[in-house]
Amino acid sequence: MIGAIAHQWKQPLNAIALIAQCFKDDYDYKELTLDAVNEHVNGILKQVSFMAATIDDFRNFFKPARTMQAFEISSAVSDIVNLMLPQLKVNYIAVYVDNSATNTYGSEVYGYPNEFKQVILNLIANSKDAIAERRAAKTLKNSEAGIISIKIESTEKQVRIIFSDNGGGIPDEVMNRLFEPYFTTKGSGSGIGLYMCRTIIEGKMKGKISVINSGKGAEFTILLEKLIEGSV
Ligand SMILES: Nc1ncnc2c1ncn2[C@@H]1O[C@H](COP(=O)(O)OP(=O)(O)OP(=O)(O)O)[C@@H](O)[C@H]1O
Ligand SMILES: [Mg+2]
Repeated sequence: MIGAIAHQWKQPLNAIALIAQCFKDDYDYKELTLDAVNEHVNGILKQVSFMAATIDDFRNFFKPARTMQAFEISSAVSDIVNLMLPQLKVNYIAVYVDNSATNTYGSEVYGYPNEFKQVILNLIANSKDAIAERRAAKTLKNSEAGIISIKIESTEKQVRIIFSDNGGGIPDEVMNRLFEPYFTTKGSGSGIGLYMCRTIIEGKMKGKISVINSGKGAEFTILLEKLIEGSV
């Protein structure tokens, strides 16, 4: 994970070094006006806040072997959806959560609730980007809503989360590289999101995450065993 942070910090560190050089150049050429100072300072602050955000993103990974706990998938999902709602609203994206298929067996699993929330957060962020991209390419009309649908189902032994969007889906050449660390098709992406998702679901929680194209967009399926306390 240190490697992942180092990767993320390389660019902002370079940018800050460049700005430092600009300060000196501006001074040498007697162009260090108040406007120039403000511009450089803002530039540095922007980079620093990006770096701080990276730390937040990875914080969960640094807490060594925290204990697993029982938690409800349904409430973890709605916590995160509620947190993201304002941001999604301004992007004209509606989120539908359907947990009616957990009525019989509930959705309690034994694992890491915060990390799980991080997974849903990453999936939502990706759907938001895909929908925004479709809007920019005008394959989704401005008047047409972006849609994220999260269906939660359970049996006695498993909980399944089916997460889909209408962001247009994943091109074939991207499909089998999706979960690779640093694989991104976005100019500003780091390619860490889905790698983190898989590490959490498959590495830490012994579940499974997979993806297909639904026709309208991407459809991720997460399968978690309803582990019994003490069995892990
Ligand atoms: N819902 C989706 N619809 C279409 N393409 C997707 C979707 N989710 C992921 N992708 C593709 O998979 C790539 C990898 O996703 P991942 O979340 O790992 O990285 P990222 O979003 O590019 O960067 P970040 O580290 O900021 O999350 C994306 O760049 C995008 O091409
Ligand atoms: Mg992402």
